[in-house]
Amino acid sequence: MQILKTVAEMKAACRAISRTEKKSGFVPTMGALHAGHISLVRTARQQCDVVAASIFVNPVQFAPNEDLAKYPRTLQEDCRMLEAEGVDLLFTPDAAEMYPTGASTVVNVAALSGRLDGASRPGHFQGVATVVAKLFHIVAPDKAYFGQKDAAQVAVLRQMVRDLDMDVALIVCPIVRETDGLALSSRNRYLGAAERQQALALQRSLQQVERLFAQGERSSKKLIAAAQQVFAAEPAARVDYITLVDWATLLQVEIAAPGHLFAVAAWIGATRLIDNVILSRPGFLASGGDEVKVVE
Ligand code: PAF
Repeated sequence: MQILKTVAEMKAACRAISRTEKKSGFVPTMGALHAGHISLVRTARQQCDVVAASIFVNPVQFAPNEDLAKYPRTLQEDCRMLEAEGVDLLFTPDAAEMYPTGASTVVNVAALSGRLDGASRPGHFQGVATVVAKLFHIVAPDKAYFGQKDAAQVAVLRQMVRDLDMDVALIVCPIVRETDGLALSSRNRYLGAAERQQALALQRSLQQVERLFAQGERSSKKLIAAAQQVFAAEPAARVDYITLVDWATLLQVEIAAPGHLFAVAAWIGATRLIDNVILSRPGFLASGGDEVKVVE
């Protein structure tokens, strides 16, 4: 695995690959890798000739009151894991390399950026879109891999790719969970033992919603109320949002239908966790990644 730290080196390595007409897959990450990230890498490995990844804790997607300073950094272990998965190129720039003094251009996916996590984390999605646009320009991959856990991020990036005519297909891979159902997240390592149990309320609320939807419940109000009830039984968890939205627009819907996104965010102590379910669509995300056909 080649590890590249500068934009110029990464561009040169990626351009050399694209001249060979090999298909390239790209997995952008902020490091602190877990099995969720590895599932993205494995899907990329299956679908592409060459796999690139990046590790960059992107400062501009953290608000001043957020956990940038304490965000877990485990570079050595991450490199070992990526190498073991057969990643070819790893980009590990520092902040000065990605945002040199005077950098002032941002990518703002106007309406979507203020919805779901964007409503509670102002500026977050602008930071995500800006860094991912830069990474796409540097790496120029054929396919890029994201987890469904960050479903609102996926919606923002789909819109960005479409609006800016970017020549990359976004592949969305299923949420990876612990055996007890907790969605994997780099932030899970902040949780103490009691909080780890409280955090299961997120997944329990989604299971309840899925059950009701399977039984025929279509009222978003009732589905949301059912999820709220699960949280009411876990008062240590502080709900940020519980919502049912159209996955493309992130706008709330009244009547639930297959393909809609039911999403929750909650504070467990000082840790904000998110989770979601796409209401059942037969075959959806059944095996190793759903290709969102943005550009053919
Ligand atoms: O999902 C993440 O880890 C980050 O938001 C991303 C896409 C790597 C951009 O910093």
